[in-house]
Amino acid sequence: MYYSDDVIEEVRQRNDIVSVVSGYVKLQRRGSNYFGLCPFHNEKSPSFSVSPSKQMYYCFGCGAGGGVFNFIMEYENYTFPEAVRYLAERVGMTLPEEEYNEEARKARDLRSSVLEINKIAAKFYYYQLRSAQGQRGMEYLKNRALSDETMKHFGLGYAGQDGTALYRYLKKQNVSDQLLKDSGLMQVNERQGMYDKFWNRVMFPIMDVNHRVIGFGGRVMGDGKPKYLNSPETVIFDKSRNLYGLNFARSSKEKAMLVCEGYMDVISMHQAGFTNAVASLGTALTSRHATILKRYTDEVILTYDSDEAGIRAALRAIPLLKEAGVSTRVLHMEPYKDPDEFIKALGTDAFRERIEQAENSFLFELSVMEKSYDMKDPDGKTRFFQAVAGKIAGLELEIERENYIEAVVSRYQTSYEGMRKMVLNVLMQGAPVRMAPRRLENENHAEKDDGILRSQRLILTWLTEYPELYPTVSAYIRPEDFTDGLYSEVASMLYDQLSKNERNPARIVNHFTEPDQQRTVAQIFNTEVPVATEKEQEKAIADTIRKVMTYAVEQQSARLDPTDLKGLQDLIQAKKRLERLSGLHISLSAGKDK
Ligand code: GTP
Ligand code: MN
Repeated sequence: MYYSDDVIEEVRQRNDIVSVVSGYVKLQRRGSNYFGLCPFHNEKSPSFSVSPSKQMYYCFGCGAGGGVFNFIMEYENYTFPEAVRYLAERVGMTLPEEEYNEEARKARDLRSSVLEINKIAAKFYYYQLRSAQGQRGMEYLKNRALSDETMKHFGLGYAGQDGTALYRYLKKQNVSDQLLKDSGLMQVNERQGMYDKFWNRVMFPIMDVNHRVIGFGGRVMGDGKPKYLNSPETVIFDKSRNLYGLNFARSSKEKAMLVCEGYMDVISMHQAGFTNAVASLGTALTSRHATILKRYTDEVILTYDSDEAGIRAALRAIPLLKEAGVSTRVLHMEPYKDPDEFIKALGTDAFRERIEQAENSFLFELSVMEKSYDMKDPDGKTRFFQAVAGKIAGLELEIERENYIEAVVSRYQTSYEGMRKMVLNVLMQGAPVRMAPRRLENENHAEKDDGILRSQRLILTWLTEYPELYPTVSAYIRPEDFTDGLYSEVASMLYDQLSKNERNPARIVNHFTEPDQQRTVAQIFNTEVPVATEKEQEKAIADTIRKVMTYAVEQQSARLDPTDLKGLQDLIQAKKRLERLSGLHISLSAGKDK
């Protein structure tokens, strides 16, 4: 699949980013940009910006950013060509015939290729399970009470005894070794070379919300170790942003989503008609998962295992979900361990009853807390209520606090006035029960960023905002003076545009098709310094040009090979330019008058 740059540019131009993003995020105008709550991380105040003039989005909180294609890729989990098709369709544009040029396709989109291989592998495992060699797998799954229909629905498969079957199969289809490595389906070892990661296991293909296979979980048939083997993270498989079963659960009619621990739990619940069940992929629930769940529902019912680990997992998930605006209830599975066992033992109706009885998450947290106090001892009981008061005081709304005081009073048979006073006391002391907002990972990155890259980004951002700076900046700083390869490439494209009196940063973003690169390019064009006046701005620009130039000259002289005469001459020229720079004065208003 390959579309020419001109086609891509036309699709981009016809899809205004503000209007596209507005379909997903509520935006409000602030100055020349639009702001809203970032769909890629949890936040309460908007740091997600969309710039109509740059046709880009950027989140100052988490650093997500890019052009209109990138937004669709991130949000819908699409590959680049899929995003192009989606946006073309959105504006009723007919795309030219796709060109099937193998080379171009590979270069363009590693993600598409890895998806393709995962699909082939899923089919391979699927047929293995249904063949004579797959008998053992089939028996195992039947023993676990899965119907043929369920196995088909979830695309279950089997990896046989032969540890190179898939390898040989894919090789026959001319898949390169590099791509096989990138797919996560192979293992490499010096002695044996490349061989299948999965063998002698029943296979659970993991699908994204659009039903595309992005990885696998493989289970031993019996008690071997490890019980499950999962695909490693690849360009398409990110465990923190995918949930098993969400491809089906997203279209369930139920109001709430059931979140459980395991593949088998999801499958048994779906088989029993609870098609709103999902599970994380062998990892704890992340805030990213919570944000994704919030797209589909306002309420989650946790159906974690009834053991110690399940309780701990629930306690961790509740605040993440709350932060994403999802309310949570907790289902009690006792005396069974997990949904799979429960349904097998007591059936569908009993499980539905448990769903209805699922406990409010706050009260669940209190019941867990209660276990660490001796409730038969008056002092123990008092300490427990004090802890409860602390927790209630941490709630944001007065009405919420009031409701929970009432709930606690009725559940623990204690006095309303007493409880209310305790809560008030905590509030008066201003006890820091409320958690400080978490520092975003990104801020730490920014601190580590060694400053020079930031200065280089500032130059590139300013060039898009004040194209009149171009003659001055380009007289001193060359594209190759940007120290990072990606930065240089971006600079040379931007210089090229500006020299033709064109300014189109979004086109530059789209030149890059890997999400990581698009993100970096968006960051490059969205770097800001807090300055108040135009004078300060002018000074900041001059200082930054000097800083970037000085660094470039230092680097150049450090790298210089003493026998390289041309390099030496270049360096002398650069040093002269640097001297002239000390008197540099930038005037923005002068530029505007012209
Ligand atoms: P069954 O035991 O077959 O019923 O599967 P389950 O899905 O109920 O598994 P369990 O509750 O033991 O574990 C929950 C989830 O954790 C699984 O679905 C896997 O995603 C993951 N998991 C379990 N065991 C392992 C393991 O040994 N390695 C890895 N990487 N993940 C595991
Ligand atoms: Mn289980």
